[in-house]
Amino acid sequence: MFLSLVLLGLCICFIILQLRPRRPKNFPPGPPVLPILGNLLHLNPQNPLEDLEKLRKSYGNVYSLFLGPKPIVVINGVKAMKEAMVIKAAEFAGRPQDTIVNDVFDVKGVILADYGTSWREHRRFALMTLRNFGLGKKSMEDRIHDEIQHTIKTLDESIGRTLCPQVMFHNVASNIICQVLFGTRYEYDDEFVTTIIQCVTEITKIFNGPWAMLYDCLPFIRNLPLPFNKAFKNIKRSSDLVLRLLNEHKNTRTPGEPRDFLDCYLDEMEKVCENSQITISDDILHYFSVSTVSLYETDKKQCQQEIDQVLEGKDQACFDDRHQMPYMQAVIHESQRIANTVSLSIFHCTTKDTELAGYSIPKGMMIVQNLSTVLKEEGQWKYPHEFNPDNFLNDQGEFVKPDAFIPFSAGPRMCLGEGLARMELFLIMVTLLRKFKFIWPEDAGKPDYTPIFGVTLTPKPYPMKVQHRL
Ligand code: HEM
Repeated sequence: MFLSLVLLGLCICFIILQLRPRRPKNFPPGPPVLPILGNLLHLNPQNPLEDLEKLRKSYGNVYSLFLGPKPIVVINGVKAMKEAMVIKAAEFAGRPQDTIVNDVFDVKGVILADYGTSWREHRRFALMTLRNFGLGKKSMEDRIHDEIQHTIKTLDESIGRTLCPQVMFHNVASNIICQVLFGTRYEYDDEFVTTIIQCVTEITKIFNGPWAMLYDCLPFIRNLPLPFNKAFKNIKRSSDLVLRLLNEHKNTRTPGEPRDFLDCYLDEMEKVCENSQITISDDILHYFSVSTVSLYETDKKQCQQEIDQVLEGKDQACFDDRHQMPYMQAVIHESQRIANTVSLSIFHCTTKDTELAGYSIPKGMMIVQNLSTVLKEEGQWKYPHEFNPDNFLNDQGEFVKPDAFIPFSAGPRMCLGEGLARMELFLIMVTLLRKFKFIWPEDAGKPDYTPIFGVTLTPKPYPMKVQHRL
């Protein structure tokens, strides 16, 4: 009896070992793989960035991991990143299609669409419409300035008090995109915006947690009542709100005379239905995962001197003023480098069998771009590991942008909102620094810069005191 049990145990161990995922020939190297779990134990689900950096040190700039039975390739450093995203752009421009993110969002739009006609059409349409609604023109700057006036009002009301500014900055970015999408702005406590921000925050938390990893690796658990179902409930809640808005637009629009992005989209859908070669679906909700504006503790005085000098006699800054403000530009870019907002980019996948850094990578492989490794790569930056605006200034004090500055990624899938985000960052930071002093409260202890990991890296909630400058 005992011998039979031992034999049975040995057989089970043998079968499990046989089930252990194996790396194909000439596949990127990586740590040893466990049966069923793969390399899940190598990653801290709360924040895997440190673990990923350790693995890069051991296995090089292109390595592989198994999330359960599923292999992924992680790309690090500017050389490998450019080889994949720019030189072999079309081969690395796909998006994985079998993940919780796809199932929750259901419609593909731009961000989640695989490389192909539908993605190309959506991207072209979104870029064209953003341009028509003033990106790169004065009208977008006016929209941003209008929104900043509401921020200034909120800050004016908080003079001398301590406030927690994160929600306010979220609202600024959301309202600017809402104006383009829906032609309307929302009060900072409006139910529509607060509900959507709350839903998106919870959804992204789930996407980055252990339950999402299990959902992706183990398809048989997908129909079970497990915590990842909250993401499906939240998306339903926010979709219902957006659908209400869509119906309002349908009922009040004049075809051919668009008031906003949504009207343009409805016009385009009508054209597309007449000529049904392209399929367009709406991914408006995805635009809510936008930038966090990070004000970093630095030599604000030097920024303020430059702002005062360049804007002397002017009511407000315009985006072109950036060319006269090298220090301010350096501070904004350095804040973005250190903030490392979308640290693992959005996952790509290969569209055909290909090679990277001499390794063979099969079609359909999930690709993770670790942008942190480029933004802090030794040899690419004067001061890779510290906040220092000199990273973007030459010896003459002129603004220069190193090749390794790719927080918006690179290649055909690079961020579609880069222009808008850069305009927002510049106008918001310049306008607020011109008018206010931001002070770390004396009783708040030392600032804790440890970020919260998610689809975007965000700072922990922090207190801030505001005073007028003049
Ligand atoms: C500081 C702010 C932002 C940062 C750091 C950022 C960063 C990124 C990154 C890293 C990607 C992935 C690129 C890739 O897959 O290779 C991305 C994609 C994207 N971003 Fe942004 N983004 C920002 C703001 C915005 C804004 C304001 C919008 C909306 C107008 C936007 C719209 C998009 C879209 C639509 C994509 C998908 C592009 C595609 O798949 O073709 N982003 N962004």
